[in-house]
This record gives sequence, C-alpha cells and structure tokens, in this order.
Amino acid sequence: MNGHEFDLWSQAQVAAVEAALERWVPSDAPAGLGQAMRYGVLDGGKRLRPLLVLASCDAVAGSVPAAMRAAVAVELIHAYSLVHDDMPCMDNDILRRGKPTVHVQYGQAQAMLAGDAMQALAFEVLTPEPGPGGAPEVAPVLQARLISLLARAAGHAGMAGGQAIDLASIGRPLDEGELRDMHRRKTGALLQASVLMGAACGDIRPEARDALSDYGAAIGLAFQVVDDILDVTQASETLGKTAGKDHDHNKPTYVSVLGLAAARSHAQALREQAHAALRRSGLGGAASLLAVLADKVVERES
Ligand code: IPE
Ligand code: IPE
Ligand code: MG
Ligand code: MG
Ligand code: MG
Repeated sequence: MNGHEFDLWSQAQVAAVEAALERWVPSDAPAGLGQAMRYGVLDGGKRLRPLLVLASCDAVAGSVPAAMRAAVAVELIHAYSLVHDDMPCMDNDILRRGKPTVHVQYGQAQAMLAGDAMQALAFEVLTPEPGPGGAPEVAPVLQARLISLLARAAGHAGMAGGQAIDLASIGRPLDEGELRDMHRRKTGALLQASVLMGAACGDIRPEARDALSDYGAAIGLAFQVVDDILDVTQASETLGKTAGKDHDHNKPTYVSVLGLAAARSHAQALREQAHAALRRSGLGGAASLLAVLADKVVERES
C-alpha cells in the first residue's frame, strides 16, 4: 500500500468516525452537559484509535458496523481520559486539540461529569438493541467481547491504573521497567485494545490474534514514547497542547529517563517489533493498513 492509498483510506474512515460521533454525542443532555461533551469529543484529535480498530477489522475482513461502534467507543474513552487528564487535579493543562480545555471552558465540575458521561456512552454504543423485528447489528457474544476488551483497557489494570502511577511518580526517578509499565497502562492499553477490538470483529486464528496483540503492545508503548519526545521537540501550536509541560511538572518520561537520542531509538525499535509481529501474524498484505499505521505512530510530528 502506498502513502496516497493510505491517505485516501484514512480520510474516508476519519470522516465516517466523525459523522458517527456527531450522531452519538448528545446536544440535549441536561444543564449544558451535552455541550461540554461535544466540545471534548468533536472537532479535533487525530482519531488514531478508531483508525486502528478499523484497520485491524480490515485485516481480518471483519464486520464493519461492529468495528465502527468499537471505533466510536474507544474514541469516547480516549476523549474522556483527556478531559480528566487536563484537569487541575491531574496535569492542569489549559490547551487541548488547539482549544481551551473542557474545564477551562465549562468549569471543573462539568468537565468531570462530561468525562463520566463519555465513559458511560462508550459502553452504551457497544450494546445495540435489536432493531424492530431485526437481528442485532452486533451479535451479543461479540458485544460482550468488545465490552470486556474496552473495560479492561480503560480501568484499574489499564488507563486509570496507569494514570494513578503517573500521578504517584511526579518527582520520582523511575527506572526503565517502571516507566514502561506506567506507559503501557496509561496509553498502551487503549491502543492495544483498539487493535484487539478490530480483530474481534472477524474470525481469526488464535496465533494471529496473539501476534496482533503483540503488534498493539509495541505501537501502544511507542505512541507514548513519541508523546514524551514531542513534548520536548515540538511547539505548542503544532501539538495543539502545551509543549514542555512534562519537564515543568517534573514527570518521569522516556526523555528524562533515557535521554532524547535513546528515546528516539527506542521508538524505532518498537516500530520494528510491531512489523515483526505483523509478519508473525501470517496476515500478509491484509495487514498493510496496520503496517502503515505503525510507521505513522513513530514518524508523527503532532
Ligand atoms: C494524547 O493522545 C494523549 C496520550 C495518550 C499521549 P493523542 O495524541 O492521540 O491525542 P488526540 O486524540 O490526537 O488529541
Ligand atoms: C496521557 O498522557 C495519558 C492519558 C491517559 C490521557 P499525557 O498526560 O502525557 O498526555 P498529554 O501529553 O497531556 O496529551
Ligand atoms: Mg497525564
Ligand atoms: Mg497530560
Ligand atoms: Mg504527554
């Protein structure tokens, strides 16, 4: 797959995800809650997690309607994690996706509630009721599998647990193993779950699924290593969020622990691990979108 083909694919998928989010995120929730939710979810973000779900579904020729629901759900969990991550009790950030953060715009209580409601909505999206007289759009067994993957990645063993480690690590010199564990949980888990949710939408041999899981783990960690790098190498205007804040907040990162050059080579090594896992999967050319996404995760500039 060449870059142009990938760009056409990803533009079409992002447009479909945007349209689905637009339909799902309410404007009529009480007392301005819907507005705060829409502000936090719509108009911004690279939509990488949805792209991973859809690319992984493509690799296994899975059910596209099911994958689209999983794509919306994982983006809702991600957006919720950003709203809470930016709050004064966490990273205290005022800029996100090129706009004032949700708590700056709507106040802390509304930001907290918007995040809570986004998380609940994510699971609602994964549990479609059968239409009148029709078969459910997503088979109940698949619904349960998608819910389980997303819940485990979002909760104490994944994102929320990683965020707890992150806050407990301020000013502490973590060793590389501790840092890897924190990054795998706070960021890697949701990216890996995106890949596994896409794969769950089709039939796949267990060995191929394990290889995709390894792929997801590699790019998931790589993504946060690159996030740490971009925090020191890019400007706020490029990132759409405040640059240099990890250092200002005394956070241990791959840059502060390993140094910039070693962090960069680590990201490249993880990219190679991701490609090796795709070769092991035996999916061949069917996994070409995932192969390009591994490169994008490491080469990105924002
Ligand atoms: C930012 O994620 C938070 C991390 C997990 C590092 P993204 O860089 O994917 O943010 P958006 O969705 O594009 O805004
Ligand atoms: C965020 O990590 C991980 C989340 C679960 C949101 P960061 O705190 O580094 O993300 P940014 O840099 O604010 O996007
Ligand atoms: Mg944070
Ligand atoms: Mg942050
Ligand atoms: Mg960061």
